[in-house]
Amino acid sequence: MSTYKIAVIPGDGIGQEVLQEGIKVLNKIAELDNSLQFEYTYFPWGCEYYTKHGVMMDEDGIEKLQTFDAIFLGAVGYPGVPDHISLWDLLLKIRKGFDQYINIRPIKLIKGATCPLKDVKREEVDMLFIRENSEGEYAGAGDWLFKGQENEVVLQTGVFSRKGTERVIRYAFETAKREGKSLTSISKGNALNYSMVFWDQIFAEVSKEYPDVKTASYLVDAAAMLMITDPKRFEVVVTSNLFGDILTDLGAALAGGIGLAAGANINPERKYPSMFEPIHGSAPDIAGKGLANPLAAIWSASQLLDFLGYEHYGKLVLKAIEEVLVEGKVLTHDMKGKATTSEVGDRAAEIIQSLA
Ligand code: NAI
Ligand code: MG
Repeated sequence: MSTYKIAVIPGDGIGQEVLQEGIKVLNKIAELDNSLQFEYTYFPWGCEYYTKHGVMMDEDGIEKLQTFDAIFLGAVGYPGVPDHISLWDLLLKIRKGFDQYINIRPIKLIKGATCPLKDVKREEVDMLFIRENSEGEYAGAGDWLFKGQENEVVLQTGVFSRKGTERVIRYAFETAKREGKSLTSISKGNALNYSMVFWDQIFAEVSKEYPDVKTASYLVDAAAMLMITDPKRFEVVVTSNLFGDILTDLGAALAGGIGLAAGANINPERKYPSMFEPIHGSAPDIAGKGLANPLAAIWSASQLLDFLGYEHYGKLVLKAIEEVLVEGKVLTHDMKGKATTSEVGDRAAEIIQSLA
């Protein structure tokens, strides 16, 4: 019997509602395979916690999470608590504290998902974005001088270390090699004459170790255009923290929208737990009404299964999501359906049962 300890951080707003359905699906898998089980521990951290206790997570939060096999996160953020606090004091604390330096976002147009591009074939939108997740433009380095004065100056410094840049690029090459796919690097060496020239140089250096992997390099602005006009160019993609953040939202729009987009924050060495989350926020406008689409959270559960070494179950869960969409009967309002969050989760679990 393999038992996996999962730390669950529902967070705020719809976080709780969608994670419940992700857990429903994990439990269904565990029910079908009696050599596998999940043990959940809930942490009530987030903005509501902040308004009561003045902190987003406990002081020793990182130590508390350390012993888990994985973290399953809903979303954090709520009106009244500034977004930079909810982001820096919880999400980024975990990503940095556990050296989750890889962010993986699949941008795959599965059957039944709608794509705003006309004339695009489904299989042409199938990208795997690998975003640098620990430094770059989001390193939090900078200064704020002469606050409020006429000569006020702010500096936001991009931090690109050789170690940090090499490891994400190498991870991307390993992924492309394993999957037999091409690797595209997205940067901006013309305007960012230090950081992105360096990025391009490291990409060229590491690529020498992988002569069999076909590569391409684009400037980020051109890449944004090409993702729309010719998405099939992109298979495995590696890019910096900021560019990856923006382009993966563009990608989410190409692959069925925010209700489907999932992301994994990975510590590849497995020295620390990795974290799985739908990429949407806490959606205060629809929270507490059973309207939230749980499919992104369920897709992150599928990524969690992949990461724990159960790729066949990860695929099964993805297949079930596809089936829910193709049937088109049990969908939430954002997908033009009338079902509640938990009805969609129930349907996904039923389909898993029937496919297993
Ligand atoms: P959001 O993703 O929460 O909502 C954007 C729009 O998409 C809203 O109209 C919402 O109703 C809809 N939406 C989002 N997820 C949905 C779902 N699963 N099903 C159906 N509709 C869905 O982004 P927004 O409004 O910019 O941010 C709200 C709060 O969430 C902010 O405090 C923000 O900081 C936080 N946030 C947190 C993230 C995280 O924890 N990883 C990521 C993005 C935002
Ligand atoms: Mg984002």
